[in-house]
Amino acid sequence: MDDSLETLKAELERFGEANDAATNERHRRMLNITRDTGEFLAVLVRATAARRVLEIGTSNGYSTLWLADAARGIGGSVTTVEFAEYKISLASANFARSGLVPFITLVHDDAGRHLQRSDPGAYDLIFLDSERPEYPGWWPHLRRVLRSGGLLIVDNATSHMKQMAPFVALVTADPEFATCLVPVGNGEFLAVMTSS
Ligand SMILES: C[S@@+](CC[C@H](N)C(=O)[O-])C[C@H]1O[C@@H](n2cnc3c(N)ncnc32)[C@H](O)[C@@H]1O
Repeated sequence: MDDSLETLKAELERFGEANDAATNERHRRMLNITRDTGEFLAVLVRATAARRVLEIGTSNGYSTLWLADAARGIGGSVTTVEFAEYKISLASANFARSGLVPFITLVHDDAGRHLQRSDPGAYDLIFLDSERPEYPGWWPHLRRVLRSGGLLIVDNATSHMKQMAPFVALVTADPEFATCLVPVGNGEFLAVMTSS
């Protein structure tokens, strides 16, 4: 294990907790995944040999570190998309400290626009952790940019079940996807594309 990366992740966990407890302004909150979700994502990247990973919703980059470290281990990399200037600067600083810069492409853009511009089948694995009401509108692009056999993971499936319901219903009804709900962290909704 890389001690300095582990130290950085532990520091970000403390920062995220203290910061989010101190402010009600949503755009100032880090809203990071839980550590066990990070471990789960890292296992999924390795188990599925997902070399081309897309993350939607970078915040200060805590979840990106888990994804990028795992992707590095299998010769892959992560593209992560964030539209808030403040979060971009925090994430850039954290990536610079992590030693993972060669394995991360930080895209400062609206996620919907990035999805529209991405090629079909561009990604092996997508981690979606952004504004939940947007997800149904993004679904046609999400399913287009995921390769056949690719995996979609969506955070907050149990913590915000009601808000997630329209998206979960949409994906579950899609005959080309097999889905499940994993009770780790805030609940991870998984969908794998079964055919192209
Ligand atoms: C829940 S936080 C992400 C937390 C991060 N995945 C982690 O665990 O460390 C959601 C992030 O998505 C960003 N976001 C929301 N809507 C977006 C959009 N349309 N395009 C790009 N980023 C967006 C927010 O600015 C916020 O930083």
